[in-house]
Amino acid sequence: MTIHIVNGPNLNLVGKREPEIYGNVSLDNYLGDLGTEFKDRTDIKVFQSNAEGELIDYLQEIGFDESAKIIVNAGALGHTSLGLGDCIRAISAPVIDVHISNVYARESFRQNSFVTPAAVGTISGLGLEGYRLAIEWFLRK
Ligand code: DQA
Repeated sequence: MTIHIVNGPNLNLVGKREPEIYGNVSLDNYLGDLGTEFKDRTDIKVFQSNAEGELIDYLQEIGFDESAKIIVNAGALGHTSLGLGDCIRAISAPVIDVHISNVYARESFRQNSFVTPAAVGTISGLGLEGYRLAIEWFLRK
């Protein structure tokens, strides 16, 4: 099994971006450590882009691989991108939607999602631990 973690715009800045919301741990470092921690149980690949088309291209590329499981944090694009939602519906690999912050406790514009309804499930508000929980769920399936 390969677990792909796909992060959208501005998630490369987690660690220095609005630390009161997203914490001060770098997401790159955190996900790198998860890769090491889980290396005997699964292969973890991380992809980040600030560009909607690049995220869709990547999901199309990996999304028909029978061994692929996908964790997506689309960042702000989750709230705006019908294209990403359609892409997740189009591919065959299961997707878990993750948000670091609790989007339902924030501004109302964060409460609409094109990604969540296309995903198997969602984790929101559990900080960076949300990624670990999604990995563990896939490993138990
Ligand atoms: C986010 C929540 C989004 O509303 C925001 O635009 C992000 C990060 C999160 O992980 O909490 O960029 O997806």
